[in-house]
Amino acid sequence: MNSDVQIAGDPLALPHLMPPPPAHPATVAEFAGLSRAVAADRAAWSRLVRYDATSRWYRRLRTGPGYEVWLLSWVPGQGSGLHDHGRSSGVLTVLHGELTETHRTPGKAVRRRLAAGDQRVFAPGHVHEVVNDSLEPAVSLHVYFPGLTEMPFHDRHTGGALHNSPAPARQYAPRD
Ligand SMILES: [Fe+2]
Repeated sequence: MNSDVQIAGDPLALPHLMPPPPAHPATVAEFAGLSRAVAADRAAWSRLVRYDATSRWYRRLRTGPGYEVWLLSWVPGQGSGLHDHGRSSGVLTVLHGELTETHRTPGKAVRRRLAAGDQRVFAPGHVHEVVNDSLEPAVSLHVYFPGLTEMPFHDRHTGGALHNSPAPARQYAPRD
């Protein structure tokens, strides 16, 4: 043995010796874990969901140091338009139904079908469009770090920037 330190017994059986769990996520894995924890509490998020056929529905669920968690609904046919997320990274988690994500890179577009439980993690500069092209409503959870402050739209054919749109946080007053 290379160390003079020997551990007798199971240190995990002594919870008072363990560091306290972090109050807020700080890594990609922890943000993905936060999303999964929210997703698992279906009773909590499902009572908040509203479906609006006339405009996209958003609700900010929580905020933490440098991050925001949003609940979104999608009736069949609703979509985001092709956009990026400014300086923000994000985790998209489908909570209910199915969504189709088209990820655009120069000269290429990749479509993914996302079912309930599927997650997509993206970095700043990720250009995508999310659409509910199914026949059933869908619900998704979005974590942004840092919080979303801009959402530039892109041309669907060229991928080039079109215009900048205020992020949902500025478009919609928080209802929490
Ligand atoms: Fe997005």
